Amino acid sequence: MTMAYTSLLTKTDNHILTITINRQEKLNALNASVFNELDHVLDEMYSDPDIKSVIITGAGEKAFVAGADIAEFSNYSEGEAKNLAQRGLDIFFKIERSPKPIVACVNGFALGGGCELAMACHFRIASSNAQFGQPEVNLGLIPGYGGTQRLTQLIGKGRAMELLMSAQIINAETALQYGLVNHVTAPENLLEKAATILNTIHRKAPLAIANCIQSVNDAYTEHGYETETNAFAACFKTADFKEGTIAFLEKRKPVFTGK
Ligand code: COA
Repeated sequence: MTMAYTSLLTKTDNHILTITINRQEKLNALNASVFNELDHVLDEMYSDPDIKSVIITGAGEKAFVAGADIAEFSNYSEGEAKNLAQRGLDIFFKIERSPKPIVACVNGFALGGGCELAMACHFRIASSNAQFGQPEVNLGLIPGYGGTQRLTQLIGKGRAMELLMSAQIINAETALQYGLVNHVTAPENLLEKAATILNTIHRKAPLAIANCIQSVNDAYTEHGYETETNAFAACFKTADFKEGTIAFLEKRKPVFTGK
């Protein structure tokens, strides 16, 4: 890494770049400096062949990221708020669309923009003291960095609606039960757990990994529906479709041939 960062710590070990959001005194809240530096380090990661995967975590034992920096945006106009949201969205898309796997290691509070950052990563691992929530309605706000979309994708519409409207904070076990995180570990094992999974992924074909990421992401765009429509229509050309429907109408079991 060529640039010296003030709001991030970066370290590459065994082809894993670990990015630590480092504003511990403000519970790692996301401000312009964090965004600028994240943007920069992500660009470097995209083009550095030595880096095969990324971990994003927060400094200290209390917070992953406690949200967007409330002090920074408290006087924003509507136009400034729109620019801020667009900036956050762009950087989080850079994470989500990375061809190399990016894992969030959630080591404490992941609230508001912090939960949104974790959700932009390809998957999440939580320490047992992690807490998740979208408490923006407490501030008369809603999530602005993709949270309404990604929370719905990850935990389903009903649970997302309840969390977004109630500002309820959930613990790591509930997050696991909801599918918001894949694993819960003791705090001291969090990074090691992520590294173990990433080391397994490192042994797979990188282009196939990139294609997995792109295809899974596409499931959540309008392209996913287009793919489904085309695939649905294509089924009508198959012998098995004819056999299946005729068998149903003739009240017998179908004999499929894979053609
Ligand atoms: N933006 C800016 N500053 C924040 C912040 C945020 N999202 N979250 C925490 N901080 C700051 C606090 O203002 C405090 O700064 P100070 O020491 O200069 O006063 C410092 O981080 C420590 O936080 P504090 O509130 O004293 O810790 P706590 O243990 O009492 O409470 C939280 C922890 C996470 C419950 C509380 O900080 C909180 O509710 N944060 C905001 C969460 C939020 O609404 N996020 C969504 C924003 S869109």
